[in-house]
Parts: sequence; structure tokens; C-alpha cells
Amino acid sequence: MKIGIIVFSQTENSYSVALKLKNKLIDGKNEVEVERVVLVGDVNPRTKIVEFKNEPDVSGYDFLIFGSPVHAFNLAPAMRAYLDQIPTLQDKKIACFVTKALPFNWTGGNKAIDTMKKICESKGGNVVGTEIIVWRGDIDKKIDDLTRRFSVLF
Ligand SMILES: Cc1cc2nc3c(=O)[nH]c(=O)nc-3n(C[C@H](O)[C@H](O)[C@H](O)COP(=O)(O)O)c2cc1C
Repeated sequence: MKIGIIVFSQTENSYSVALKLKNKLIDGKNEVEVERVVLVGDVNPRTKIVEFKNEPDVSGYDFLIFGSPVHAFNLAPAMRAYLDQIPTLQDKKIACFVTKALPFNWTGGNKAIDTMKKICESKGGNVVGTEIIVWRGDIDKKIDDLTRRFSVLF
């Protein structure tokens, strides 16, 4: 099975989750790649114009994991723009995770996951798992828990 972990990360938290996930998911039958969504400059919040420096192609993967930070109580606009431009996710199995700083459940994690789910499902994808990591406390344990839950999904 070919697994693609596609991540947007500004300060490397989400990227570090992606790398740990990759190490744990690799085994004899899985090929795992981490690819980053990279923008040229920042998202302009007024115009939402987004130019991609790197825009991973998901068509070759059997299973996709999308990862992103929460920004402004929702999905980071860069990840939203990236997901929006994917032509199709028909019949792909997908898991999504977000990282965030604030512990309360009204601070964007659920909304960000909901946004990811809706975009993926609107393109025919089958979202089978979601996780939110609050970036405080025992991060390694949280990443281990996420990895354990994701590894039984495919
Ligand atoms: C512009 C900006 C907005 C943010 N908004 C939120 C927020 O609404 N809720 C929250 O819990 N964390 C928020 N954060 C914190 C990030 O979600 C958190 O630090 C995340 O782990 C960063 O991931 P990254 O290192 O992959 O970019 C925000 C961070 C930035 C830079």
C-alpha cells in the first residue's frame, strides 16, 4: 500500500507529527512518503490568493493522511486552498490531523477537522479517521496515540 502524508506546517509541529507517523507506518508492505504543501509567501487574508511553491500530487497514493495547523479558529488557509484545488479524491481512504496550541475545544480544532472532512468528502474521498493534537503536555505520547489509532485504519 502506498501511503501519502501531505502536510502544511509553518513552525514544524505538524511536520514533526508527519515524520513520526512515517517512521511508525513503514513496514514490509507499506511505502510511505511525506510531502509538504509549500506556499510562495503568505496567504493574503483579504484576497485569499494562494500561490503554491509545492503542491503534492495525490493521485498515486492508496491512502492519504492530511495534516495541518489550526489558524484563527479554523483550518490554516494554506491547507484549505491546497485541498480545494485537488481535482478528485474519489475512492481514496483518508485520515486527517490538525495541531493546535490552545487547549479548549472551541478554539478551532473541531472546526478545522470539519472543514478538512467536508472538502475531502465533496471530492469523493472516504474520511476514516481524524485526530486533534493540542501542542502542550506530553507531545510524544499524543503522537504515539495518534499513530496507533491511524495505523489500524488501513
Ligand atoms: C497565525 C496563527 C494562528 C493560530 N490560531 C490558532 C487557533 O485559532 N487555535 C489554536 O489552538 N492554535 C492556533 N495557533 C497555534 C498553532 O495552531 C499551533 O502552534 C500549531 O501546532 C502550529 O503548527 P505548525 O508548527 O505545523 O505550523 C495559531 C498559530 C498561528 C501562527
